Amino acid sequence: MKLTVVGGGSTYTPELVDGFARLRDQLPIDELWLVDPDPVRRELVGGVARRMFAHAGHPGTIHVTDDVVAGVTDADAVMFQLRIGGQAARQQDETWPHEACCIGQETTGPGGFAKALRTVPVVLEYAELVRKHAKPDAWIVDFTNPVGIVTRALLEAGHRAVGLCNVAIGFQRRFAKEFGVAPDHVRLDHVGLNHLTWERGVHVTGADGVERDVMADLLAESDGALDRTADSVHMHPDLLRLQHAIPSYYLRYFYSHDIVLQEQLHEPTRAEAVMETERALLAKYADESVVTKPAELEQRGGAYYSEAAIDVLSSILGDRGDVQVLNVRNDGTFPFLPDDHVIEVPSRVTRQAITPLPVSPLAPDMVGLVSHVAGYERLALDAAVHGGRDRVLRAMWAHPLVGQVDKAEKLTDLLLAANAEHIPWA
Ligand code: G6P
Ligand code: MN
Repeated sequence: MKLTVVGGGSTYTPELVDGFARLRDQLPIDELWLVDPDPVRRELVGGVARRMFAHAGHPGTIHVTDDVVAGVTDADAVMFQLRIGGQAARQQDETWPHEACCIGQETTGPGGFAKALRTVPVVLEYAELVRKHAKPDAWIVDFTNPVGIVTRALLEAGHRAVGLCNVAIGFQRRFAKEFGVAPDHVRLDHVGLNHLTWERGVHVTGADGVERDVMADLLAESDGALDRTADSVHMHPDLLRLQHAIPSYYLRYFYSHDIVLQEQLHEPTRAEAVMETERALLAKYADESVVTKPAELEQRGGAYYSEAAIDVLSSILGDRGDVQVLNVRNDGTFPFLPDDHVIEVPSRVTRQAITPLPVSPLAPDMVGLVSHVAGYERLALDAAVHGGRDRVLRAMWAHPLVGQVDKAEKLTDLLLAANAEHIPWA
């Protein structure tokens, strides 16, 4: 099979290649194509990827190119993991919102909106090339953030696409370790929108073959479990106790907004930290003696994303019909959202379709926040596709972290000024 990674020059790619090498029985790749406009990264990442395959005895070949058409032609599946403007644009997303007393984050709030505006038009352009040149039933697996908005853009344009994030698989792996079981013995009741999710149930199958929800154990106050669980997502214990759920750490930007803002004003940005890590990684990739994934990759947030990607690709291509947490069309799963909204829930994966499983009703506070953010996401996609300051202003205003019109005006001006290079109409 031919697999293509658009944005393949990412320093993350060796994480994927490591997964492909380890799990080659699950996903037999003949050709791996890395498409990237940056010649330096492309060659360095391609080089280490080739050495990793050779070292692991993987028979697949690795190709690098800046030509998207050559990359996607006859591909069985295409992964999108691109970042328009690179870490420099991320650095801006993480800082200009501060001028309006708002957190700066690459996927959440005003910074995430800027990323959507830069990214959606490019993703849609590449997706058309996939439609034209890849195998007719090729799927697009999107890791490109903001995954909820980007996946909806792809689905609205009629592409076969699914959105992927590593938050759920991260929880699954962590709980598996904590309860001493294999990861596939942990089933999550994971609900929400991408980067706005809660684990409401953690169903663990023990050695006796019986499945049990261990949420009460994770939230028990008697032995300090609640504090430990809350600490692990950097959240106030009352929140977990009252919601009887474990929010993802991205909810901290909402539930502890002012605290996070104060922290951000006194700390280097995540973009700065990542740029530092990337320098070290690229030096490793340039070193011919490096034939495995460097330890520095663990400093990135993408743990297990290669396994999540391999799971979804092998289920699609092998028509397995198993269940994974993915970003898919709502289709009535959350009755309070439009059918065409993209939600992140456990879904059944086959070659033809990826379908959300039914979920029990969400608690009122979850319904409220999910609805509010979904409203913003719809307006944000409209702005990304059609452009114009008014559309940006309206979406900005609709975001629950903004809300006030003066603040939205200021943030809109800041966003457009910071992104003139990457948004043609700005
Ligand atoms: C998690 C999120 C990804 C995000 C990443 C950022 O993995 O699920 O969507 O891209 O963190 O990691 P970074 O190392 O770039 O901060
Ligand atoms: Mn993610």
